[in-house]
Amino acid sequence: MLMFDDTTNTTDQPAPKTPVAAGTGPAPAAVLGNLAAAASSKPGLKIVPNAQVTDNQAGATGLEKIEMNAARIKVDEKRIINCRADLNQLVPFKYEWAWQKYLDACANHWMPQEISMSRDIALWKDPNGLTDDERTIIKRNLGFFSTADSLVANNLVLAIYRHITNPECRQYLLRQSFEEALHTHAYQYVIESLGLDEGEVFNMYREIPSIHDKAAFELQFTQELSDPNFHTGTVETDRRLLRNLIGFYVIMEGIFFYVGFVQMLAFGRQNKMTGASEEFQYILRDESMHLNFGIDLINQIKAENPHLWTPEFQQEIIELIKQGVDLEFRYAEDTMPRGVLGLNVPMFSDYLKFIANRRLKQIGLSEQYPGAQNPFPWMSEMLDLKKEKNFFETRVIDYQVGGALSWD
Ligand SMILES: [Fe+2]
Ligand SMILES: [Fe+2]
Repeated sequence: MLMFDDTTNTTDQPAPKTPVAAGTGPAPAAVLGNLAAAASSKPGLKIVPNAQVTDNQAGATGLEKIEMNAARIKVDEKRIINCRADLNQLVPFKYEWAWQKYLDACANHWMPQEISMSRDIALWKDPNGLTDDERTIIKRNLGFFSTADSLVANNLVLAIYRHITNPECRQYLLRQSFEEALHTHAYQYVIESLGLDEGEVFNMYREIPSIHDKAAFELQFTQELSDPNFHTGTVETDRRLLRNLIGFYVIMEGIFFYVGFVQMLAFGRQNKMTGASEEFQYILRDESMHLNFGIDLINQIKAENPHLWTPEFQQEIIELIKQGVDLEFRYAEDTMPRGVLGLNVPMFSDYLKFIANRRLKQIGLSEQYPGAQNPFPWMSEMLDLKKEKNFFETRVIDYQVGGALSWD
C-alpha cells in the first residue's frame, strides 16, 4: 500500500573514494540571526570548528574559468559531492532519479491563492465556529511553519547548494527552493485571510519554546555549512554535510512537519478550515517529495563514500533523530494540551515513533522504537488530491502542467 511519504530509492552503485585526513581551523561566524547563539549553547548541539581543506580537495562550484577545448564530460566522472567536473552541463545524466523528481515536482505545480479561503474566514470569524483549543492548534502551526519553510529555503541556497556538485541534483534543489517559497506564501495567504496578528504568528519561533527549540535545532546545521571557508573534501566536512542533509531532509521535513500535517489535515476531515487544510495537503505532497529526494541523495552519498558511514557516525545520527522525536513530541503537547479533533497526545507519541522507525530504515539504520504503530492510517490517502477534493467540497483545483497528470 502506498504510504503518505513513500519513496522510490534508486541509488546507483557505490564508487570508491580515498578518505583524506581532517584538520581544524577557525570557528564559523554566526551569520544567521539570534537563534544562532541559542542553537550553539544548547546541550548536545555543538558547532564544530571548520576543517582546513585545500582547493584541490574541495569540489567544483560551477564558477570556475571556462576552459576552451577542455575534454568533454564523461558520465563516470559525475559524483554527488567533491566532483571536479564542470557543473554547468546538465547532461549526460548519471542520477536519473534526481531528474525524474525534478520533472515530477514541476508536474505537481500549484499556487496558494488558487484555493478558496472563504469558508475558513466565515468559520474563523464566527465566535462559536471553533473552540479555543482548535484556534490554538491553527495559530501555533502557522507560527511554526511560516518560519520553518524559510529556514529550509535558507539552508538550501545558503548552505547545501554549493556543496552538491551534481547538476541534476542542483536542478531539483532549485525547484525545491521555489516550492519552499510557495509554502511560505501559502502560510502568509492563510494568516492574511484569517486576519491573524502577523507579529504574533511570525515571532512564535522566538516566543514559544517548543517552536523555538525545533528551529534552533535545525539552524545549527545551516550555521555549520554557511561559513564561506567551509569546504567539503575531508572526512570531517563531508560528514558535516551529511549531518546537515539528515538534519533537514530526515528530521525537519520528515519528522518536524508531521504533527502539524496531521493536525491541520484533521480539520479538513471534519469539514472545518477546509481551505487551510487543503493548502497543507498540497504542501504535504511537495514535502513528501522533498523527503524522498533527500533520502536518495543521502543514500547515494553514503554509497559513494562508505568510509563516512562508520558505526560511531551512525550512532550520532541515531541520537540526533531521537532528539528530533523528543522535540516534536514536546511540540505536540504544546499545540494540543487536550484531546481534540479525534486526536490526542499519546497518539502522537506512537505516530512519531512509527515515523522515526521509518526514517531510520530509509537511511539504512536500525529501528529504535520496536513495535510502534501508525495511529493515523488515513494520512496515506492525503496524497491523493483527487479523492480528497470531493470530500473537502472546496473548489476543484487540480493543477495540471503540460498534460503531465492524468487524474480525471
Ligand atoms: Fe516546505
Ligand atoms: Fe520542503
